[in-house]
Amino acid sequence: MADAIRILGIETSCDDTAAAVLEEREGGVHILSNVVDSQDKLHQDFGGVVPEIAARAHAERIDLVIERAMTDAGCDFMGLDAIAVTAGPGLIGGVLSGSMAAKGLAFALGKPILAVNHLAGHALTPRLTDGLEFSYLLLLVSGGHCQFLRVESAQQFHRLGGTIDDAPGEAFDKVARLLGLGQPGGPAVEKAAKSGVSERFELPRPMLDRPGYDLSFSGLKTAILRLAQSCQRADGSFAEQDRADLAAGFQRAVADVLVEKTSRVLGDHPNLAGFAVAGGVAANTELRGRLTDLAAQKDLRFVAPPLALCTDNGAMIAYAGLLAYKEGERHLLDFPARPRWPLDAAAAPMLGSGKRGAKA
Ligand code: KG4
Ligand code: ZN
Repeated sequence: MADAIRILGIETSCDDTAAAVLEEREGGVHILSNVVDSQDKLHQDFGGVVPEIAARAHAERIDLVIERAMTDAGCDFMGLDAIAVTAGPGLIGGVLSGSMAAKGLAFALGKPILAVNHLAGHALTPRLTDGLEFSYLLLLVSGGHCQFLRVESAQQFHRLGGTIDDAPGEAFDKVARLLGLGQPGGPAVEKAAKSGVSERFELPRPMLDRPGYDLSFSGLKTAILRLAQSCQRADGSFAEQDRADLAAGFQRAVADVLVEKTSRVLGDHPNLAGFAVAGGVAANTELRGRLTDLAAQKDLRFVAPPLALCTDNGAMIAYAGLLAYKEGERHLLDFPARPRWPLDAAAAPMLGSGKRGAKA
């Protein structure tokens, strides 16, 4: 197929070692393979991602993950048109592991390389999955990110607001730990919340009384800590109902804040083609449902990509790389690995820097 373009995408910026092959042909983009090797098990005893463990695991596994992505795609290396790799933002050891693997391959194969911003990968995913038209709003909510991005084009992004402390996934993980639930915390809290009464405990809705689109989750986590201490039995355990009510109250408060701020952003930004959500927290059924309702109320298109493409993956990096490749971008092999790399250089620096490293 002479006019097909094939891109290998590599992602290692946090705790997923990922590679994917994307092909554009006859105007359509097809994910030929998408391999994600999660490090969840390696980090679960430490209460967060340990950068040194993550970097070593990426370095050990990246070759195998790339090989599997190529095999699954039925593609040989010479059949690639370019290699796209996350060059930041993220944990520096991980970003280095991926970018060194990509540089080695590009050099050996004599293929072009594209240094991709991880956040651009997330931000462009609603186009890959649903062809959402520019401009749109992206709410990116994960264990490492929390921001509102107005996506104008494949090169132009405006960060409208974000967390001033923790990311919401991080807060879910901490609350799960406080309540003696498993990790990752989001799914565990969501499960416990199913039998809970969200109104039982009074919890704050941080930052809703302030103008703008910034968010905060650390006060909410502290409020849960205090309530949890008052419910805890002498042996440290919880009555099932208390735990369920705390989980439900927390989940409701997070969803209230995210939905209200999203509504505010949408109210202030007419003429958007739609809005989308991405990141691990986008898996939360209550949040997804309420954002769907909000979109219906505002008569706007809403895109929630399948979870495998909401969380970190190589396909989103390959897609951002494909768009750059078609614009004629080609990068030199000496591009740096960047722990911080704001998508919107004009926006004020982010204050939040949680367990998964500094946020861009
Ligand atoms: O995007 P992701 O896989 O990794 C990064 O953080 O980059 O997101 C993982 C985060 C974890 O903090 C996890 O607890 C949260 O997403 N999460 C959820 C749910 N599933 C995963 N949070 C709330 N509800 C869920 N169902
Ligand atoms: Zn991410």
